[in-house]
Order: sequence, then structure tokens, then C-alpha cells
Amino acid sequence: MDHFLYKNGTLHAEDVAIPDIAASVGTPFYVYSTATLTRHYRLFTEALSPLPHLVCFAIKSLSNVAVLKTLGNLGAGMDVVSGGEYLRAKAAGVPGDRIVFSGVGKTRAEMQLALTGGIRQFNVESEPEMRALSEVATSLGVTAPVTVRVNPDVDARTHEKIATGKKENKFGIPIARASEVYAEAARLPGLRVVGIDVHIGSQLTELEPFEQAYLKVADLTRRLRSEGHTITRLDLGGGLGIPYTRSNEAPPLPTDYGALIKRTVGDLGCEIEIEPGRLISGNAGLLVASVIYVKNGEGRDFLILDAAMNDLVRPSMYGAHHDIVPVAEPAVASPTQEFDVVGPVCETGDTFARGRDLPLVAEGDLLAFRSAGAYGAVMASEYNTRPLIPEVLVHGDHFAVIRARPTFDEILNRDTIPPWL
Ligand code: LLP
Repeated sequence: MDHFLYKNGTLHAEDVAIPDIAASVGTPFYVYSTATLTRHYRLFTEALSPLPHLVCFAIKSLSNVAVLKTLGNLGAGMDVVSGGEYLRAKAAGVPGDRIVFSGVGKTRAEMQLALTGGIRQFNVESEPEMRALSEVATSLGVTAPVTVRVNPDVDARTHEKIATGKKENKFGIPIARASEVYAEAARLPGLRVVGIDVHIGSQLTELEPFEQAYLKVADLTRRLRSEGHTITRLDLGGGLGIPYTRSNEAPPLPTDYGALIKRTVGDLGCEIEIEPGRLISGNAGLLVASVIYVKNGEGRDFLILDAAMNDLVRPSMYGAHHDIVPVAEPAVASPTQEFDVVGPVCETGDTFARGRDLPLVAEGDLLAFRSAGAYGAVMASEYNTRPLIPEVLVHGDHFAVIRARPTFDEILNRDTIPPWL
């Protein structure tokens, strides 16, 4: 469910009409709904209650500090994967003891940053990383709380580029080697083992892979405890999928996911952490664009938008589907036409959809891409020297620009001319 509905024939974000935002900031832009972010965060906290738990929002899905502050104010923790994301979480006012640090290649500088600023735990992913963290912590005179990310060799049955839990993926340590790796972690002077971490992939549309992974984590918890380790936290990762089309998708609900967690690991007395990104942010955002031209090609008609692959890369990168709807509500049973929806970037990959059935649209009309809150703005680039597009946050009948469109001067001034030119 989201808060982007037609009211009086016009698409709204909560109580703000999308054309009002377009008139104020220009297109294209991203717009996020506070009510949807809040609702989705709460679905998780309700699904996990009464287990002791912390929902750590995966910042990588949508990292604007205003969004992080919205969630942080509700009590959310944050899952960060870089020093930059760590600084974003801190800038949003989230205390270190609610920030978990994930990622396969944390640098010593990033470890130092988080150890100095405060951190709930590092999810370490390899023995060399464990040793480096122990050294950094020792040099600072502190101990780093750690979980080890285990790779359970489970098929998440999702897009190959975002599956992470198979043994051939680069993530985690093989679960079969966990005893050995935990024994070393326990010996390293700068580390304090607090739990186990697992994350098997993103956009999972079935619960079964989670179940397989979490049952393995439950067994491992018992084994590691019998080997003398203190396991008080289980970080179960993110990955719950969202519906990208209105019609035919029904991914599992957070309540069912919560029930699964209770069933598989709920009796271990551990604090549960989860790291959802997409389910909180995905359907909380739209990308709004204008039609520049309607071009009738040979056997195909093209809608050329002012948004492009650099603004929303998911269709070109993963073949992902995003529903595209007109901002002016089409009349019931109004005629439709098949369009290839494309951007102005100079490559054929700059295609959002092929043969998409859309109501008749004309130059200047506004279109909205749904489910664009997650992995939209954060994956944008300035390819073709197209400025990063603004982000807008709506709250009831208010909206605010939470990242402004840069000027061309700002963009050009980042390049510097060496002295010999
Ligand atoms: N935790 C870890 C360790 C992760 O690697 C990820 C996502 C998450 C949590 C959050 O997963 P989520 O709940 O959002 O599924 N760019 C791709 C998705 C990449 C996901 C990477 N890891 C896309 O646009 O589909």
C-alpha cells in the first residue's frame, strides 16, 4: 500500500498534487511519502513484536538524510555499507548504537570512523577483514562488537545480480566453516562476538529461501553456543520483495515474514535485527517525468521523456519493470496505445519499457514511475552531464525539496584544469 492516489483526477502524493511539485521544482524529480515510509517501517516493528528487535533500514536503498531522519525519529536503526552511509546516518541524528556496518570490503579508515563515532556492530565477512578490524580496534584501545556473516548456500530465487546467499557469491563465510572462523574471532584481542549475520538477496518473492537460511542460522546458534560463544543477536538481513506491478504480484507480507522469524529463531532468546531497504522505501517513492516528444517510428511509437537511465537505471540494468502512470487520471475505458518509453540518453539501453500500453499522452504531459523509491535516486549518475534530479519529501499537505537540482556551474566547477593547460 502507498499514499500515491488519484484525487479529483490528479495523482497526489499524500495531500499534495504532483503537478504542484512539478511547477515548483521542474521535472524530472523523485518524490517520497512520509506516510508510506512510516507505515512500512511500522509493519516490520509490529511483525517482530514482542521479540526484542531492531529494524535497521538499509540506507543503500534510499539514502537522503531527510528520509533517514524520518525513520530514525521513529526509532529505526540503520544498516550502512560505507563510511559515507555511516556519516549520513549520523547526520540524520541516529545514535551509533543503532547503526550496523555491513559490506564485504570495509576499509581500515571506515572501521576507524565507525569505532570512533560509535557503532552497534560490524557484520564481518572474511577472516582478513576480522583481523584488520581487530588491529584497528586495538590501536584505538577499544573492542569492536562483531557478528560474522555466514553464507548459507541457499538459492534466493531472485535476479542473479542481487542474489547473495549461494556459495559462489562473494558474500560471507561458508556456514560449514563457521566454527573455525568464530574460534579465531574469539581469539582476536580487538573483537567481541555478539551474534550471527545472514543476508541471502534482494527482492525475494517467496518466504521459503528465508526459512531455509534462518533454520540454518538457528542450528548454528546452538552449535556456537555449545562451543562457548555468546550469541545474543541475530541479524537476519533484508530482502523482502515488493509488488512492482499492480496486478499479478503478491509477495509475502511483513506479518508472514515476522511469523516465519518467530517460528525459526524466536525461541533462541536473541535480539533480532533485520535490514529491510526496498520494502520500506520502494513503494514510498515516485519518479515524475515529462513527455518531451511523441515520436512515431517505423512500426513503433516512442515516448521520449526528460528522465533517463541515469536517473533510474533499474530497467536498463536488471530489465526491471516499473509501472508508469499518467499524472492526469485517464477516463475509465479511455483508449490506450503501445509505446516504447525511452529517455534522451544516447544509447538504446536508455529504454524504460518496450511496447507498454499507456493511455494517449501528449507533449508536456506528466508521467509517474511507481515503486521508484528504492535503488532509484541512490543509483543515479550524471551520465550525459545530466544533473542529478531533485528529491522532494511530502508530509500531509506539505512538501519540501530535500536535495536540490545542482546548477550547471556547480557541476562544471567540480572539474579542475591542470596547470599545463
Ligand atoms: N542488507 C544487506 C547486507 C544488503 O546487501 C542489502 C541489499 C540489504 C540489506 C537490503 O535489501 P532489500 O531489503 O532492499 O532487498 N540495486 C538492486 C538491489 C541491490 C540490493 C543490494 N543489497 C535493485 O535495484 O534491485
